[in-house]
Amino acid sequence: MPKKTKEITIRYIDEVDIQGKTLFIRVDFNVPLDRNRNITDDTRIRAVLPTINYALEADAKVILASHLGRPKGKRVEELNMVPVARRLAYRLHKKVKLAPDVIGPEVDQLKAEMQPGDVLLLENLRFHPGEEKNDPDFARELMKGVDVYVNDAFAVAHRAHASVDAVTHFAPVCVAGFLMRDEVLYFHRALEDPARPLVAIIGGAKVSSKLSALVNLLRHVDKMIIGGAMANTFLKALGHEVGQSLVDDALVDTAKKLMSEAMKRGVKFYLPVDVVVADKLDRRAQTKITPVQEVPPDWIIADIGPATVTLFGEALQTAQTIIWNGPMGAFEIDIFSRGTMAMVSKVADSYALTIVGGGDTDVALHKSGEFQKFSYVSTGGGAFIELLEGKKLPGIKALEDWAKKHPNI
Ligand code: 3PG
Repeated sequence: MPKKTKEITIRYIDEVDIQGKTLFIRVDFNVPLDRNRNITDDTRIRAVLPTINYALEADAKVILASHLGRPKGKRVEELNMVPVARRLAYRLHKKVKLAPDVIGPEVDQLKAEMQPGDVLLLENLRFHPGEEKNDPDFARELMKGVDVYVNDAFAVAHRAHASVDAVTHFAPVCVAGFLMRDEVLYFHRALEDPARPLVAIIGGAKVSSKLSALVNLLRHVDKMIIGGAMANTFLKALGHEVGQSLVDDALVDTAKKLMSEAMKRGVKFYLPVDVVVADKLDRRAQTKITPVQEVPPDWIIADIGPATVTLFGEALQTAQTIIWNGPMGAFEIDIFSRGTMAMVSKVADSYALTIVGGGDTDVALHKSGEFQKFSYVSTGGGAFIELLEGKKLPGIKALEDWAKKHPNI
């Protein structure tokens, strides 16, 4: 377990009295659903079971609340919490009552009827416009009858929404859960107090969506490895032909500046040396492997090549800490998944502390079956990126502010 550090001033669920109390646990059950509304990956549900079970062992009355999708402040039946309630009951081995709404007289009644050890899941928080507006009146209603607010929803901590932020002005006690603790502490260990060399592997489609993260990471890392379509913009900045590949044309100059900044800071910067190119981004595409100097003008870069995997693997050899976000190619299409999968194995086999975050990277890890070999896999997508950008997340700030105001609880 990572050490607790001075900078982290949040209070946690095991530092306050919850015996027999009514707990409101904000979770992120924003899970992927297929066409028939079956949950295709319940990692986010499993990730908060330690907090929920801890509360149940203390005979707490456990109210759980989450958003699901983006219903934009209206009731959208396809985004109700029915499948989540079912899966949660299965995972907890216990009855989970699903409230018909989030606030209102019926919900108040259900809260009032709760017995120690009961679990009540509220409906989708985003059925109410007050949630995304961070509305204090909505937050006050959410906290009605609540003794302790627990935020265990790291994946939504970057949203200043009512159940994440405003509620902390109305709950008597505000703490974080065990998932939040792991997320915050592992991230701290990876980026703020890392064992070195610290290597960042950044992939994914666009430089634009991760520009701030790249800028911030350059201040912290010893080596930076760039893969995925975002590498194309850097290759173009170096004067290479990138054919019909995805490129952030407006950021080619910025890419140049980032590379010279890396050089100034002594950060070793790695780009692909060979790539898989395709005549189209399709599973029936014609493909070939080529050095980056020889990408044909009509082709598309779809993955990193084998020489690049070797190069990146060598760059990881001495790493003590590895932080990874974003795939190395269009890995959702099998014929372009080799580079990403090979990197999964390289990182999995490393002796370094390995921290992975961001939706797509998780998917690749699950696909590989090597999930267990990573030190920590974050449940956050956007939240993880915002941490990489060096931002303070509103959900964490709200808990810190509460802790500062209540030093004696
Ligand atoms: C996520 O899936 O990243 C979180 O649940 C946040 O969802 P949002 O991007 O819709 O706010």
